[in-house]
Amino acid sequence: MGYEKTGDIIREAYKNNYGVPSFNICNYETIKFAVDAAEIAGKPVIVQLYPGFRDYISFEITVEITRRLAEKAKVPVGLHLDHCHDIETLKYAMRSGFLSVMYDGSKLPFEENIKTTLEASEAAKEFGADLEAELGNIGSAADISGYTDSSKFTDPDDALKFLDETGINSLAVAVGNAHGDYAATPNLDLARIEKISGLLKIPLVLHGGSGIPDEQLQKSVRLGIAKINVATDFFRAFQLAASEYINDKSKKEDIFACMKASKAKTMEFLAGKINLFNY
Ligand code: 13P
Repeated sequence: MGYEKTGDIIREAYKNNYGVPSFNICNYETIKFAVDAAEIAGKPVIVQLYPGFRDYISFEITVEITRRLAEKAKVPVGLHLDHCHDIETLKYAMRSGFLSVMYDGSKLPFEENIKTTLEASEAAKEFGADLEAELGNIGSAADISGYTDSSKFTDPDDALKFLDETGINSLAVAVGNAHGDYAATPNLDLARIEKISGLLKIPLVLHGGSGIPDEQLQKSVRLGIAKINVATDFFRAFQLAASEYINDKSKKEDIFACMKASKAKTMEFLAGKINLFNY
C-alpha cells in the first residue's frame, strides 16, 4: 500500500471490474485532499498533473509531495502525467519521477499518431514507466457535436491495430465523452467500450469524467473503463467550498482557516467519486 505505480493500480482495477478516479491537481492542497479522501474511502486513488501547470507546480515538487503523502497512506496512491503532446517533456517528466505518463497524439493523422506513440512507448519502457495514449477525438464538452458525432469516436479495429503497433499500457477512448462542462447530458457509447475492451484487453481510460451521469459511469467501469479522469468538477468543488468561507463575513480573512474549512467539503466530493467508481 502507499505509493504505487499507477499502471499497477489500474491493471488491478481492470482485472476486477472497478474504476479508479484520477484527479487533476494543481497544488499541495489538491494532492493532500485526494490522498486523505482515499484514506477515508479505504480505496485507491490517482492524482495527475497537466504538463501546462508545471510553471506553477514543477514535476519534481509534484512527485515529492505525492510520494511523501502516499507513503503514509494505507491505500494505493498513484501519480500520472496527463495529456503530454511532446516526447521531450514526457522524458523530462519520467526523469523527474513520473512512472505513468500519457502521450496524446490524438490530433495527428492515424499513422502519425502510431509513429509518435511508438516513440513515447519505447521511451516509457526505458524508464520502466507505463504509457497511456489516446485514439479518437476527445474534444471540448462545450461543443455538442464533439461528443455526439460517432465519426470522431474510437474505432475498435483501429484501436487494436494501434495497440499492436505501439505496445501501450492503457488507452484513452472517445466514446461520447469530452472535457469540461457538457452543453447537454452526454450519452456514453457503452457497446463501443465493451467492444474495445474485449478486443484490446488492456485498461481503458475515460477522460471528461465531470458531468457524466453516475449510472453511465458505473456501467462503463463494468465494461472496461479502469481510470476516470476528473478535473472540472474537482476544481469547482474546491472553489465553491473556499468561496463559502470567503463570502461568510463572520469569518476571519485567514487563508489557513479558509483551506482548513474547504477541506471537508472538497473531500466529501472526492470520496464520493472514489466510491462511485469502485463499487
Ligand atoms: P474534466 O475536466 O471534464 O473532468 O476532464 C478531465 C480530464 O479528462 C483530464 O484529462
